[in-house]
Amino acid sequence: MRRAAVAVATTAMAVSLAACGSAKESGDKGDSSDSAAKKGDDIKVGLLLPENQTARYEKFDKPLIEKKVKELTNNKGEVVYANAKQDATLQAQQVDTMITNKVDVLIVDAVDSKAIAGSVKKAKDQGIKVVAYDRLAEGPIDAYTSFDNVTVGKTQGEALLKALGDKAKSGQIVMMNGSSTDPNAAQFKEGAHSVLDGKVNVGREYDTKEWKPENANANMEGAISAVGKDKIVGVYSANDGMAGGIITALKAAGIANIPVTGQDAELAGVQRIITGEQYMSVYKSYPQEAEVAGAMAVALAKGESLDSIAKEKVDSATTKGVPSVLVPVVSLTKDNIKETVIKEGFYTLDEICAGNYKAACDKIGLK
Ligand code: BGC
Repeated sequence: MRRAAVAVATTAMAVSLAACGSAKESGDKGDSSDSAAKKGDDIKVGLLLPENQTARYEKFDKPLIEKKVKELTNNKGEVVYANAKQDATLQAQQVDTMITNKVDVLIVDAVDSKAIAGSVKKAKDQGIKVVAYDRLAEGPIDAYTSFDNVTVGKTQGEALLKALGDKAKSGQIVMMNGSSTDPNAAQFKEGAHSVLDGKVNVGREYDTKEWKPENANANMEGAISAVGKDKIVGVYSANDGMAGGIITALKAAGIANIPVTGQDAELAGVQRIITGEQYMSVYKSYPQEAEVAGAMAVALAKGESLDSIAKEKVDSATTKGVPSVLVPVVSLTKDNIKETVIKEGFYTLDEICAGNYKAACDKIGLK
């Protein structure tokens, strides 16, 4: 009896020592006298983002995650950053480099959610926990944060229907979805179809290679010649970057005044909403998403539970019950610019209404 009790106690101690050991390895160099609060603050977080053409990543996600990590580690935590520029092979190499550099935890926004699975597994084999950021990476991830991406697609579809009104079936719409390597793109598409199907005619539909505005531009040119410039009544664009390429093609063909959707509330997108070239965007609170990711990463690096951070569970194709946080989204049109992007400090009124945009702002009463 007694021996058994001792054995249990020893095991428990071994476990807590192991936990201590990992905190030490993770770089806690603080002096042991004021241990508890500072233990593990000196952590290294590897941050991998997928591309840099879409403005959000380096303007919002990166600095916001860095800020949160600093905040939660008494300024001792460090974020090591790499951007894959839409190249899944490069992203796999970036993970290898981070493993070599002994990061304590990874935050990964995958270029290709399937291809990244091997890298996730490699990191995990080295004891490095992985947070899937924005896109649900496959492989043994420990946590996930994103927006409700099916709702993003529904929001876009509903806005397009509203803008089309009784013209919805009077012609064809063109659907420009995101990259087929991005699971979010599939969810946006699913959400959009769930509200558009049966209510519009889809003349042409594309999955856009690497989410690139120039590819969306080329596909739009193709759609205009195939469908006919007088037949297109609206365009579903999965994000603002592509909406930019699409609107350039529409203008070049002399098509104006048809609704085009978007997502991300990029400054250029918001400005096109003000001039009326783009109908809507989806406003997503990057501060909320980034703060969750930072908190998850710090907790995992310190060996703490995620229970107080992540209340939901999400399944990926390979991993069930991943602790997750999904942040809600808002449809952004010319009517709620003040309550959204300006209120949350994405942009100032002066930035949005700069130069030539001043007149357009005045016209819609944005001041
Ligand atoms: C993100 C969008 C972004 C797109 C292109 C998606 O996974 O959720 O915000 O526009 O990727 O990078």
